[in-house]
Amino acid sequence: MMNKMQIKTLEEYHEKYALSVSDPEYFWGEIASEFQWVKKWDKVLEWNFTEPDVKWFQGAQLNITENMLDRHLEKRGNKLALIWEPNDPKQRFVRYTYRELYEQVCVFANALKAQGVEKGDRVCIYMPMIPELAISMMACARIGAIHSVIFAGFSANALSDRIEDAQAKLVITTDGLNRGPKQIPLKRVLDEALENNTCVEKVIVYDCLGWFPYMKEGRDIWWADVVAGQEKKCKPEVMNSEDSLFILYTSGSTGKPKGVVHTCGGYMVYTTYSFQNVYQYQESDVFWCTADVGWITGHSYIVYGPLLSGATTVMFEGIPTYPDAGRFWQIIDKYGVNQFLTAPTAIRSLMACGEDHVLSYSLDSLKVIGTVGEPINEEAWKWYYQHIGKGRCPVVDNWWQTETGGIMISGIGNISPMKPTFAGYPLPGIQPVLLNQEGKEIGGPDEEGYLCIKFPWPSILRTTYGDHERCRINYFSHYDGYYFTGDGAKRDENGMYRIIGRIDDVINVSGHRFGTAEIENAINTSNLVVESAVVGYPHPVKGQSIYAFVVCDHEISEENRDFTRGEIIETVAAEIGKIAVPEKIQFVSGLPKTRSGKIMRRILRKIAEGDISNLGDTSTLLDPLVVDEIVENAL
Ligand code: PRX
Repeated sequence: MMNKMQIKTLEEYHEKYALSVSDPEYFWGEIASEFQWVKKWDKVLEWNFTEPDVKWFQGAQLNITENMLDRHLEKRGNKLALIWEPNDPKQRFVRYTYRELYEQVCVFANALKAQGVEKGDRVCIYMPMIPELAISMMACARIGAIHSVIFAGFSANALSDRIEDAQAKLVITTDGLNRGPKQIPLKRVLDEALENNTCVEKVIVYDCLGWFPYMKEGRDIWWADVVAGQEKKCKPEVMNSEDSLFILYTSGSTGKPKGVVHTCGGYMVYTTYSFQNVYQYQESDVFWCTADVGWITGHSYIVYGPLLSGATTVMFEGIPTYPDAGRFWQIIDKYGVNQFLTAPTAIRSLMACGEDHVLSYSLDSLKVIGTVGEPINEEAWKWYYQHIGKGRCPVVDNWWQTETGGIMISGIGNISPMKPTFAGYPLPGIQPVLLNQEGKEIGGPDEEGYLCIKFPWPSILRTTYGDHERCRINYFSHYDGYYFTGDGAKRDENGMYRIIGRIDDVINVSGHRFGTAEIENAINTSNLVVESAVVGYPHPVKGQSIYAFVVCDHEISEENRDFTRGEIIETVAAEIGKIAVPEKIQFVSGLPKTRSGKIMRRILRKIAEGDISNLGDTSTLLDPLVVDEIVENAL
């Protein structure tokens, strides 16, 4: 355990924070020295936020898996690295020691090489929450291939776009997946996604359910066949610190999801540093993050951060309510989980199921409990603190983003103060600011503004895959010299931050990010639709939900409404996935637009929120009457 990077007191936090601002290169150089590098860096940091061009540990060479696996073999070879809990509690769980995981990763890395995968090639991973998903990621990293994990809930179209954008050579998938009482065919979705594809040469299929999916000759091969006879050792590819480690697609305010690129050196340093500090992990602790590896939280805090730290990490295949709403708590007792991280959506939905499900479990092992991905309301925070943390575990509210790679603003174990609904202080090394409309920093206490970061940290995104200009425009062009987060925030008199939510056209549904334009594009592909506008509105469990205002090519009669809604829902499910389906669909004869044709989302948002008291001046709109009609028929 690299306790040298762990902050132990509030005083030390303040000291380290000051040092990270006055001498960032020294600060990060010291932390980076804790890792195993093939060659040390020439320069800790070079950067500008104009192009942008950020380079950490320039000149250094490493392989991240050597730091996750090989490095631990001597002292932790027999320590549990990964515990896998299956969807069905009656099925046997699976455990890997560091040595076993090392061997599995090497075997699969050799298998990938045998299939023709080379350094720099892109490999898409479309898999459920099984150990082979983590093994696949590490096997890619071992040989210098760039992985792009695609959440298994995405549809064939969404999958196809991401595979094409990354120009993946190989895809790894399974026959299907378990999700609570259901089984979902994954290979079939992939086959559809690959119908017109020209870049994918091979598909490796892991047998998860014992099904017999269609296997295309010359393209599809079983996992068991590719690993057969492969050696348990694989020389790690020597990577430059700034070589790409992975791509992860995420939604923004423009239509097409973008591939956020993270690099080897900086991501390694920051995920380890943030994991060890925020969760105060100790050598014999068991850490469990319930996120899906298809999202950044699973990348950083199920796979990379914990394994880089030599920790024991739990991976859960199922859902919080199967077979009943006590499942999370049962798993915590079963493995003696010490640090637990989940999302506000899960907390709210389990809270709604009542305390009985919690009372049968002791939860004595817990030391730190975390929440991530969306703002947490006070009621859910308190329930979590009292019923899960039993009033003795600090709740750490982790604010960060796919683009930031790791936790940026958060409580630090039981070291920093807690305040419900406030994420807290920035980690040392992170320099957040609040800007006003004009882009000026707001200095005073108790103020609100646009949350930006003014200095780089090691796991900042480097680019958006294949389109650097998009990265510049999205994150670095709003305010000169700042990384723009897209979030609004408030800072209290003690310097603690509270995240208010997105100020751009991004909706966060159960912690899943969607761009309004992305959903509108999907809806508009339906033959019946002329145009649409999508906004988010508050939802008691999901945080936000999706409301779509849709203009069809003909008037929709009362009888036809459900049918047409069904058509639109199916279209969105096919274009993106069921997770992006609007909860409310209102048919309208037109959308409120300015004279220049811009949709007035502010008005639609108010209507969706049920707040029609102050819609502002609508007289300047192209067609003011349309607002009255929308208000009258609002759902
Ligand atoms: O709006 C913020 C919200 O989620 C966004 C990032 O989403 P994503 O890239 O999918 O990453 C999720 C995992 C970190 C942010 O811009 N968000 C994330 N964490 C919090 C949050 N909002 C409030 N509180 C948080 N702790």
